[in-house]
Amino acid sequence: MTYVIVNGEFINRSEAKIDIEDRGYQFGDGVYEVIRVYNGKMFTGTEHLERLIDSGKKIGMDIPYTVSEIKQQLESLIDKNRLNLGTLYLQVTRGIAPRNHAFPSNDVSPTFVAYSKEVGRPVENMKTGVKTILNADIRWLLCDIKSLNLLGNLMAKQKAVEAGCFEAIQHRDGVVTEGSLSNISIIKNGKVITHPADNLILNGITRQKVLEICRNNDIPSSETPFTVDDLKSADEVFLSGTTVEITPIVEIEGEKVGNGSLGPITEHLQALFVKEIEKECGTIS
Ligand SMILES: Cc1ncc(COP(=O)(O)O)c(C=O)c1O
Repeated sequence: MTYVIVNGEFINRSEAKIDIEDRGYQFGDGVYEVIRVYNGKMFTGTEHLERLIDSGKKIGMDIPYTVSEIKQQLESLIDKNRLNLGTLYLQVTRGIAPRNHAFPSNDVSPTFVAYSKEVGRPVENMKTGVKTILNADIRWLLCDIKSLNLLGNLMAKQKAVEAGCFEAIQHRDGVVTEGSLSNISIIKNGKVITHPADNLILNGITRQKVLEICRNNDIPSSETPFTVDDLKSADEVFLSGTTVEITPIVEIEGEKVGNGSLGPITEHLQALFVKEIEKECGTIS
C-alpha cells in the first residue's frame, strides 16, 4: 500500500479524491514544492518548506502548518512508504469553493496534499550532458512564486522534447532567465554567472546551494543578467534543480558548448554538491 497525505491524514493513494471545485484543479490556484530524498532523508527540506510558505504568502494564502509540522508529516510519509531514494511532491491549493475568480472567504481552508515517488539520481545526464533549445520566455512576471500554473513551462519543455532536447533555455529580449524546470548558469573565465533572484526566475534551492558552494570554495560567482550571446560563448553551461541536480548543457540549438562534454568546473561543482547532500543525508553512491 502506498500512502499519501491529504490535509494531515495518511490515506491509501487509491482512496485519495479531489473535489472538482478545488481551486487547484479549476484555476491552478495554489503553490507546490518538490523535495529530494536521499537515504530516506530530505535534502534542504527546510529551505523548500520555507519557500512553500513564502509562495503561499505571495498569493495571499496562509498555509495552515509550520515548517516543522509539515516536516514531521513528510518524515512519516517517507517511513510509511519506505522511501529511500526519490522525491516528495506537495501542493497547497486555496481550497474548495463554488467557482468564482475572486478568492473565497477566510473560512475556506487550503487543501494540502503530499505524495512520494521513487526516483534515481540523473547520473547519465550528469555525466554526458544534455541538449537544449532556446525559447522566448512568454511567462507571467511573478516567476519567483512556485505556482501550480505551469503552462508556459510545460509548453517550453514540450518544444524542447519535440526537438529531441532535454530543456528549453528561456530568454526575455535576449536576456537568459531560466529553464522550464531548472535554473541556468554559465561559466566564463572561471566565473559562475546566473540570473539574479528577482521576479523573472524561481530562486531555485539548488541554485542557492551552488552559489553557497562557490562562496565557500573560492569559486568566483555572480548573480548578473547575461545574454544569449554570453550563453553561446560560455566555456561551460549547466542547469540546476532538485531533480536534475547539476547537469551540464553540452549543446544549444545544435551548437556545441565548449568542447561538447562535461567541463571541469561543472564537474568540480557536482562533486562539491554531493558533499553537501552527504552532510545532510549520509553517504550516497
Ligand atoms: C522554473 C523552475 N526554475 C528552477 C527550478 C529549480 O528549483 P529547485 O532547485 O528549487 O528545484 C525549478 C524546479 O522545479 C523550476 O520549475
